[in-house]
Amino acid sequence: MATVTDILIQPPEGANADWTVPQDWASYTPDEHAIWDTLFARQAKLLPGRASNAYLRGLDVLRLSKPGIPDFKELSDRLMQLTGWQVVAVPGLVPDDVFFDHMANRRFVAGNFIRRADQLDYLQEPDVFHDVFGHVPMLADPVFADYLVAYGQGGQRAFGLGGLKYLSRLYWYTVEFGLIAEPEGLRIYGAGIVSSASESLFALDDPSPNRIGFDLARVMRTEYRIDDFQQNYFVIPSFDELLRVTVETDFAPLYQTLMAKPDIAIAAILPDDLVFTQGTQDYARAKGELAILT
Ligand code: PHE
Ligand code: FE
Repeated sequence: MATVTDILIQPPEGANADWTVPQDWASYTPDEHAIWDTLFARQAKLLPGRASNAYLRGLDVLRLSKPGIPDFKELSDRLMQLTGWQVVAVPGLVPDDVFFDHMANRRFVAGNFIRRADQLDYLQEPDVFHDVFGHVPMLADPVFADYLVAYGQGGQRAFGLGGLKYLSRLYWYTVEFGLIAEPEGLRIYGAGIVSSASESLFALDDPSPNRIGFDLARVMRTEYRIDDFQQNYFVIPSFDELLRVTVETDFAPLYQTLMAKPDIAIAAILPDDLVFTQGTQDYARAKGELAILT
């Protein structure tokens, strides 16, 4: 059934029917390339010893350290050889069905614009730095690459099952804000963390947030916030295990079960949680947001 939003939301003028646009790499200004270089240098200094091995390997094999905003054509050529993925440009956020269709077909949609020099630390819409620096290195990992394809297919299925709310939380707490337990310690792999200087530190070192072992149903019941640091991070044991549990679980009955249960408040800790660190929640408390604790 078409909803009002479906009818109103059309690709903007100049975009293709699938919402893609040319990246138009030649039109980036020297200042825009310099913003990429500044952000890159800052993160490249922070991430060794903090980002997962898979992420750091991706950064390396895709040669993302080359100065300037990457050319999606060049990037897609390399990625295609490694895992069959491509990077395609879009003007901004796209509707869920468009996003899932691209993903299920190994096309990662990336914003083609870059933040302004006065927005280095925070920006609401995902730009080319978040999308490419944050997400694309993980696409060079064969297991994670397959996880995202399965996620895209799962998204297409979720529409008919009323499961989008639950599936979005899975994306949020893995693809965007996931942590992984590696032999050397906890590491970050979520794109929202690795593309942010302040959250790269906060997610691993700050005493405020909870760090809890990943459990599929638990994650899908947990609310999240989009406008500040997370109060809760979920830790996977490995990408193989993340792929295995999500692919082997039929989400249709799981959505039914979840619909019958209440959501879990952001910072809550449950008796069955595997707690890596119980957060002090001082960060949230300082902002007067303690009410969300249960
Ligand atoms: N197994 C899920 C389903 O039955 C699909 C899925 C796979 C979703 C991997 C997310 C990640 O719908
Ligand atoms: Fe993202």
